[in-house]
Amino acid sequence: MRLPPSFIFGTATAATQIEGGCTTSDWWAFAHTKGRVANGDTPDVACDHWNRIREDVTLQTRLNARAYRMSVEWARIEPQEGHFDEIAIERYREETKLLRAAGIEPMVTLHHFTFPSWLANRGGATARDFPERFARFTKHVVRALERDVSLWLTINEPNVLVAQGYLLGIWPPALRGDLRALAKAVANLRRGHVAAYHVIHHVQPHAQVGLAHHVRIATPASPSLADRFAARTLDTTFNKPFLDLPQDFVGVNYYSRDVVRFAKDKPAELFAERTVPEGSEKNDLGWEIFPEGLGVVLRMVAKKKMPIWITENGIADASDTKRSRFIADHLREIARAIDEGIDVRGYLHWSLMDNFEWAEGYAPRFGLYAVDYATQTRTLRKSGELYADIAARGQIPT
Ligand code: GAL
Repeated sequence: MRLPPSFIFGTATAATQIEGGCTTSDWWAFAHTKGRVANGDTPDVACDHWNRIREDVTLQTRLNARAYRMSVEWARIEPQEGHFDEIAIERYREETKLLRAAGIEPMVTLHHFTFPSWLANRGGATARDFPERFARFTKHVVRALERDVSLWLTINEPNVLVAQGYLLGIWPPALRGDLRALAKAVANLRRGHVAAYHVIHHVQPHAQVGLAHHVRIATPASPSLADRFAARTLDTTFNKPFLDLPQDFVGVNYYSRDVVRFAKDKPAELFAERTVPEGSEKNDLGWEIFPEGLGVVLRMVAKKKMPIWITENGIADASDTKRSRFIADHLREIARAIDEGIDVRGYLHWSLMDNFEWAEGYAPRFGLYAVDYATQTRTLRKSGELYADIAARGQIPT
């Protein structure tokens, strides 16, 4: 099975997870609060990408990549309200130039989970002026990078951000079952996306602007009415609140599915307990490996009649024994969808290299390159070699 020659292969990362050296964000403060991140890990150094952009672009050329999804760190660019750090912006400009020179198209995410502390301190996503502040920041970045960037993502996985931060309470601002704050955050993130969408088009009329949607399958654990209700609730509240926004393409982050059981003792989770079917194959974080789900998701979002990018898909697999097949199986789902006439433009594997996996710290290994954090050595995994080969020829191994 093949993917068409026009199909674009690449990788994805996010600033906080790889850069290191930024102390002005909510996630920095969160990770420095005891008990919040596994093993006491912090993003202080991460992959030291901030000092290694040249090397990390070279890693991508070895993968035959033609696109790279990266994010810019708002807290670094605007460390104090209204004060923009031109040196930081210059660094991002240098990076996007290097990518272009290497034949790699940058796709830039403006918001990937983190807030500058000055905004987090007054509510982050729930701050009344979040949409305006975000639009101002967006305008600044787009003006600075518009020569080399025309593919933009406004916000990464706003549904995950609100679920983790306001429902489960395991990410900042660590509120559990706070539905009032959650509703406010959802409304504000929606407004923020819309404001940024228009600002980008105003500065750069030919821009292609999307949002990275985390879409999961919710399968009822049994045919009972209660389980079906719980699965439907999860699907509606998790997958739907951001899909109807203005966008030029749909960014899809796909990882796994949930088998959902009604749980009357879990009001904070909206009575939906997410489980993993017994005997299923899992990644190192215990998530079910379910490639068919990507096909289902693609058919679902295809109804929007817009180009689709897979903006993330990957696996925590430290032993690298499952990643090669994971990649091939998911690419096959994409090839099938394209054969059916669905307009999927490209696939950005999560991730270029191992990195700081939020509250899970450094233990999960998602990289096509393994990172030795003591020496910052990057080593191409076997699955990375396979990915480079697929990217060069478009041919998916059986
Ligand atoms: C996504 C997120 C990424 C990365 C990935 C792997 O939800 O956007 O930042 O952490 O999951 O878990």
